[in-house]
Amino acid sequence: MAENGADYIPRPGHGAAWITGASAGIGAAVAGKLVENGWTVYITARSEEKLAAMAAASGGRMIAAPGDVTDPAAMEAIVARIEAEQGLALAILNAGVYIPMTAAEFNVEDARKHFDVNLQGVVNGLVPAMRTMLTKNTGCLALVASVAGYRGLPKAGAYGATKAALINMAEALAYNLYPEGVRISLICPGFVETDATSVNDFDMPFLMQTDEAARRIVDGLQTTKFEIAFPRRFAFLLKSFRFLPAKWYIALGRKALGMDRD
Ligand SMILES: NC(=O)c1ccc[n+]([C@@H]2O[C@H](COP(=O)([O-])OP(=O)(O)OC[C@H]3O[C@@H](n4cnc5c(N)ncnc54)[C@H](OP(=O)(O)O)[C@@H]3O)[C@@H](O)[C@H]2O)c1
Repeated sequence: MAENGADYIPRPGHGAAWITGASAGIGAAVAGKLVENGWTVYITARSEEKLAAMAAASGGRMIAAPGDVTDPAAMEAIVARIEAEQGLALAILNAGVYIPMTAAEFNVEDARKHFDVNLQGVVNGLVPAMRTMLTKNTGCLALVASVAGYRGLPKAGAYGATKAALINMAEALAYNLYPEGVRISLICPGFVETDATSVNDFDMPFLMQTDEAARRIVDGLQTTKFEIAFPRRFAFLLKSFRFLPAKWYIALGRKALGMDRD
């Protein structure tokens, strides 16, 4: 019988790691940390030159696998390649976009970008990775969501919706994956200093550096945690808002953020 997937801890000896959104920010830092921990990492993003430079600097420990996560055939081909070359032990589906929008700015095109990359883009990589792991009854899948998925946050109507969907998706899939020996984990970062958050025009509470975020993610995957959420105090605070009725939550949030003066 397969080991319970909930208890599976991926190790470099089990195969290779794959990370999407690896050319910058959190993904690039996680790829670096995985290499430090002995992994061979396939790195995916659209920027071929950046990936090639990272691979060249890694002494063969990072392997460029360029691709757009919105292209399901490309994601399937990357997974097939990794499985054939080294075996896929760990898949971190991290690529994402963030475009803050007020209600007046909310538009179809930018909303669709979030859904295509953050949600369908994750599904495009998840499906081939999950099928590959299910045939072997082992492996670890990690979805990069966000604390913004816990409750609606200002200007994050489209972004937060994709992250809430990923949280739900990971929980739902865990039911069937665990008895088959496959682990699924959810990564919920708070604010991390990257190109994505450089557009924010407010002081980001508990802002974390990418190296520290990467350490939390890679260390968290070496435990049997379902959810790796950080900074812990910020994540706990936002999660505790789930217990508030929506009307109170929105009223309190508007007051705390000074929006009642709008
Ligand atoms: N930064 C934060 O505060 C924070 C907080 C919570 C959650 N997150 C989540 O963490 C993940 C990484 O965020 P980040 O801040 O590191 O973002 P980032 O610095 O903007 O990097 C985004 C990465 O995704 C890749 N990407 C974007 N669209 C892609 C596509 N269509 N196909 C393939 N790759 C694509 C980018 O590479 P190319 O442009 O080369 O394709 C880049 O490598 C995202 O899912 C984000 O939502 C971030």
